[in-house]
Amino acid sequence: MASLLRKWCDLNVALSKRVESFFPHTRIALHERFHGDFARCVDEGRDNAIILDVGGGRSCPTASLLSEETGLRLVAVDLSRAELARNSDTRLKVCADASKGLPFADGAARIVASRFLLEHLPDTDAFVAETARVLAADGTALHLFAGKHTPFATLGRVLPAAWSRRLIARIYPDQVGILGYTVHYDHCTYRQFLGLLRKHGLTPEDSAVSYHQSAFAYAVFPLFVVSACYDAVIHALNIKALGAALYVRAGRTAAETTHGSSE
Ligand SMILES: C[S@@+](CC[C@H](N)C(=O)[O-])C[C@H]1O[C@@H](n2cnc3c(N)ncnc32)[C@H](O)[C@@H]1O
Repeated sequence: MASLLRKWCDLNVALSKRVESFFPHTRIALHERFHGDFARCVDEGRDNAIILDVGGGRSCPTASLLSEETGLRLVAVDLSRAELARNSDTRLKVCADASKGLPFADGAARIVASRFLLEHLPDTDAFVAETARVLAADGTALHLFAGKHTPFATLGRVLPAAWSRRLIARIYPDQVGILGYTVHYDHCTYRQFLGLLRKHGLTPEDSAVSYHQSAFAYAVFPLFVVSACYDAVIHALNIKALGAALYVRAGRTAAETTHGSSE
């Protein structure tokens, strides 16, 4: 029975992925944007500062963008010691709750980056305040996070974390360890997060929204099609409040340039 269910899920996932490429909104690549900006900031930062990957957990893919000559040191910061223990991308690891404080000196960090951390924080305001404190005067904050108003986010808030983990292990075994952490989505909408940045003296310099939120339905093809059509509509209307994932680059001084783009 279990193997039949597995086969049925696999078939649906394959079908969904094949159809997905016909939807333009699925081609928006926030990860590339995040990594591109990260690489540019590293190039500009040839000094002895630190880079924080907050919520770095078990891996820091940005480590491959750093070379010895930059003199920059990448520090993975995470609430979970177990996750940090598995991280072989950097030797510098700090166990801390980013909602309560970042244990670094004022102005110590050239970059404060996070990927899919914000939605897990119970107090994003406190985290942004800490980001502003530890960032160097010419530093950059890069945040990629999941939006609050999506079917997936709603499910994540309603289901207990243990249930989510079990469901994910069954349907998406390749996402184990990436999905399934406790979520809060505090200030995880476009407007709320940009408001927080400004509140703490950071200027959004670039931002982008992805409307691709149907991956949760891969395993049920008809549901995937309905969901992808919904995504296509909110993408066409550019309703940022309903975005699936958001990317924001912020600094202290530069003016906002492409804020609001929907790429
Ligand atoms: C979805 S994972 C993302 C991991 C990694 N950044 C990535 O993109 O693959 C979320 C990570 O945030 C960490 N985390 C959750 N709450 C946190 C908090 N309050 N402070 C620091 N890290 C936290 C988790 O332990 C986990 O490693």
